Amino acid sequence: QKPMATEWATSRIRTVPDFPKAGIQFRDITTLLADARGFRKAVDELVQPYVGVAIDKVAGIEARGFILGGAIAHQLACGFIPIRKPGKLPYRTISQSYQLEYGEDCLQIHEDAIRSGDLVLLTDDLIATGGTAEAAVKLIRQAGGTVVAACFVIDLPDLGGAQKIRDMGIEVISLCHFD
Ligand code: PRP
Ligand code: ADE
Repeated sequence: QKPMATEWATSRIRTVPDFPKAGIQFRDITTLLADARGFRKAVDELVQPYVGVAIDKVAGIEARGFILGGAIAHQLACGFIPIRKPGKLPYRTISQSYQLEYGEDCLQIHEDAIRSGDLVLLTDDLIATGGTAEAAVKLIRQAGGTVVAACFVIDLPDLGGAQKIRDMGIEVISLCHFD
């Protein structure tokens, strides 16, 4: 099987050196999102493996996972759940802290966002170390949901995050990678 050509995606993603810290090559999807054909194709390709698959909810990780997750949920006719940074969600929450490629942070989900047994598709713009996605998976599982798969526009495979999530028994797909 031929590997999928992903140049359409990588060519629309901007790399910003030394953001937010020296040494980080920030992969900026705003240029992909601003491109009508690029945004549509990204959402279509993220959705395509899950058409006809039983999914109740799409969970998107703040902030860029909201943009993709909203569009994916709409196309799959699923509900959308925001996984947010601390202090943003108004109702009772469950929290999970995690390590970032460049620091530490925490994610929260509303304690009633997921019904026991819900099948959830997790999404974000990028997976690097996988710390963020791992925290999101833990929150969804704690809330009673099953993570069917996790999908990303970008994988940074050298940082091992996608493998970490696969090791949790979850299918991971991404549209392109940067080494
Ligand atoms: C970025 C990205 C992912 C996360 C991936 O978000 O959108 O959520 O990093 O990194 P990891 O796999 O090493 O955990 P960031 O933490 O920069 O937050 P933001 O979306 O609020 O900018
Ligand atoms: N999150 C973690 N690492 C990142 C990177 N290199 N570019 C964009 N978002 C990121």
